[in-house]
Parts: sequence; structure tokens; C-alpha cells
Amino acid sequence: MNYVIGVDLGTSAVKTILVNETGEICAEASKSYPLFHERAGWSEQNPDDWVTGTIDALQEMMKEANVPAENIKGISYSGQMHGLVLLDGQHNVLRKAILWNDTRTTKQCEEMTAMLGAEMLSITRNRVLEGFTLPKIRWVQENEPELFQKAALFLLPKDYVRLKMTGEAHMDYSDAAGTLLLDVAKKEWSTAICKTFDIPLSLCPPLVESTGQTGTLLSSIAEITGLRAETPVFAGGADNACGAIGAGILSSGKTMCSIGTSGVILAHEDDPSRDFEGKVHFFNHGKKDAFYTMGVTLSAGHSLQWFKETFAKDESFDEMLKEVGSISPGAAGLLYTPYLVGERTPHPDSVIRASFIGIDSAHTRAHFARAVMEGITFSLQESIDLFRKEGKNIDTVISIGGGAKNDVWLQMQADIFEAKVVKLQNEQGPAMGAAMIAAAGSGMFESLEQCAEVFIKEGQTFLPDAERSKQYKSLFSIYQTVYAQTKSINEQLQSFRV
Ligand code: XUL
Repeated sequence: MNYVIGVDLGTSAVKTILVNETGEICAEASKSYPLFHERAGWSEQNPDDWVTGTIDALQEMMKEANVPAENIKGISYSGQMHGLVLLDGQHNVLRKAILWNDTRTTKQCEEMTAMLGAEMLSITRNRVLEGFTLPKIRWVQENEPELFQKAALFLLPKDYVRLKMTGEAHMDYSDAAGTLLLDVAKKEWSTAICKTFDIPLSLCPPLVESTGQTGTLLSSIAEITGLRAETPVFAGGADNACGAIGAGILSSGKTMCSIGTSGVILAHEDDPSRDFEGKVHFFNHGKKDAFYTMGVTLSAGHSLQWFKETFAKDESFDEMLKEVGSISPGAAGLLYTPYLVGERTPHPDSVIRASFIGIDSAHTRAHFARAVMEGITFSLQESIDLFRKEGKNIDTVISIGGGAKNDVWLQMQADIFEAKVVKLQNEQGPAMGAAMIAAAGSGMFESLEQCAEVFIKEGQTFLPDAERSKQYKSLFSIYQTVYAQTKSINEQLQSFRV
């Protein structure tokens, strides 16, 4: 039996899976690492923690799996998008990575939009937003000029881990698309953008397809992990592209809802000229010459994680959520907006913060938990609503990630989205997409589509209930008013944040 390995470098943890050629998960491991929030709006990680975590997870997984290393035909990666890793000429990390959910760059975004906004939208197909990589590079240029002088290369998180495992530096198109430096349609670094913002082209790594081979393992890494140094390593992709591949979103008409730390609604696009005017993100897919468009809720799973850490630290998620199913839609008049670190879609706003509205003395912690789940889902519905208004037909949604692990939440998604929601058997999130990239890259399958036919199996489906959908429709229109009504309050509160 042959196998492939998928590595998903997330924000809270790295997960590795070993998948056999029939798509069965034979072993997995996960290692978490710290997030640093030194100031309000800052979110950083130590790139070497990712490397240590990945190597430890691979070592543990290979021990557990006990399969011959020569039967492992490839390894590939999925990674949290946009995070800036700056390296010197010897590939040493110059500072902590500035992550996708770091919102310190509002000033740089405003300046960049004023300087080149319309042209950037037509080249990169995206608006200038705090989460993307180029504003982070500008922030370092401006605030840490001596450090920037030493920078010879920038990478994204999974590319750094791959570099440390192979000795080779590359970036695939799906992740490069989230930097604001890529000409998305031409698939090349934009010299116009680099020139305008004083970015030497040499700072940008060589570009490759997701299924392109980017070397083999360094012998030191092979030795520790129990893999062979000859194991082919494939580039991999952005976590949302890999989530989509793992959910079979490989042709138009398919939609995915992924709830990880962030939450996304993602739809496949064949046509690079399709114009959403930057209202949603538009990126290259991990499938060659395909694209996807998506709306992003910054604090989706993060909202529930925050709620658990703050109010149910010693309980499991299942314990914390065990009563939410017996509470009716609307959590007895309690609404939550998930803006814990600001928002992206449909309100690109780094200053807005979350709210609970309508707290009543009859509410219990279970009502709050349900309100958090509903608020996250309403936020994702804003993206579905936007897509539908742009003419996309969304009748079926494949749900992956944390939101697919709880049946009450899956039914809630069906009721709020007014669409059939499908759960996958053996759902593994973006790690499965990474494994599929390794499977297609290594020639185990001729294409990602062929691999999807074998690896992806649809499971339970959840149909919308007409009565609950009606209730949620009224609640959604109330939810939509909260942003505008809390915007100025949050602006006034900003100076009190630590
Ligand atoms: C997408 C985004 C997030 C991260 C999470 O634009 O910022 O979904 O990829 O890892």
C-alpha cells in the first residue's frame, strides 16, 4: 500500500495526517504552539515553533503508523495564509511572523489604497486589507527600517516550514495570491506594485504550482521523523485552497463553509475576469489555472474558543455545548457579532469589536454559547448573501472544520444559509487537501479530480427547516443592523484598548 502525508499549519496548531491510496486516514498527530499578542491588534508567532511542531508531529505520527517509509510517495502542506516571515540572506528569521489576523497596518492600507488602490484591485483582484502580506511588509519598512535592510526574502508560513525541511525556498500561486504582490491572472509577481512600494523583486520567492515538486527532505529531517530523505516534497497551498480541495470544490457551482480559527464561505471560479469589485477575496486555486472567491469572518472558531477559554476553561467543547440544541433559534433574544479582532467580509474594519446584544437575566451560559454559534453563522451568511446578490447559485454547501463537528451547528448552517449542508465522512479539513496535492503531485493519481473521486466521501446531509429558516431570516436582518450601530461606539472605545 502506498501513502501520502498532508501537513496543515494552522494558527493554533499543526496537524499531520497519513493517508493511504484509498483515502483512508491511517495515522495523525497534532502539536500546538503559542500566539503572541504584544499589543492590541497584534498577532504574531515564532516561525521556528511551527518547524518544531511539524517535525514533532511527523515523528509521533510515523511511530504510531509503523508503515515502511519507502511506501510514502509524497508530502505536502496547507498553511495559514498571509503571515509575513522575513529572512536574511542565510535564511535566518529576522523577526516574529506577523499573522493574517494582525490588524496593525490600517495606516499602511490607507496610504497604499490612496497611492495605487484601483490598479492594485485590477492586478491583485483584491482590496488592500490589513490581513494581507504587503501592508505588513510596508509596516516593517516604516517601523523597523534597520531590520528591513537585512531582509533578503519573504515567505509565507508553510513555505518557511517547507524551506526548513528541504533547504529550498518556493511559494505556490494560491498562497502568493494573498500577498497583494501577485498579478493573479498572469501568475507572476507584479513589477508595478513592487516598484511603487519599494519592494525589491529579489525579496519575492520563486513561484510554483501547488502540485509542483519542491525538493526532497533534508537528511537531518528524514532521520528525526523516520521518513526517507528521498521523499518527494510538493509545494502545497493556502489553507482555504487546500480546504476546498479536500472538500472537492474543484469545479464551478460548488460552495464550501469552513470554520477554523477564521471562517470562510468559498466558491470555485473558472473565469479570471469575474469581477466582484473587491467585495470578496479572489485568489488562485491550488488546482492549476483555476480560481476561487471567498468571504472571510476573522473570528469564527476563534469566537467559540475565546468563549470556552473565558467561561468554560475546564470543560470540553462537547460539555460546553451540550445544552445548545435545546434552545430555540435566536437564543431567547440574545445576539452576538463575532468581531473579536475586527472584521473582513462584508465590513473590512480593524476597529470594530464584538457585541452581545439583548442580555436578559433569564439567559444562561448555554444561551450565550448558542448566540456565539448563531453570530458566527450569521456572519458567514453575510458572505452567502453577497454571493447570491452577485448571481451565484448556492443550494448546497460542503461544511468542514470545527463547524462540521457538531450536528446542532450543521443544522443551524442549513437553516441560516437556506441550503443543503453536507458533512464529509472522515473530514480532515485542509490537511486532506494537502495530502491530495501530494497524491496528485506524486502521480498516485492523474489529477486532483481523480484523487477527489477516491478520497472524498460525502456523509450526512442537513436540510433547512422552513419554519426555523423563517425565524432566522428575521433575526439575520436584526443582526445586520448591529455593525452600523456599534461602529462609532467602538471607535470611541479604541483608545481604551490595551
Ligand atoms: C484568509 C485568511 C484566513 C487564514 C486562516 O484570507 O486570512 O482564513 O488563511 O488560516
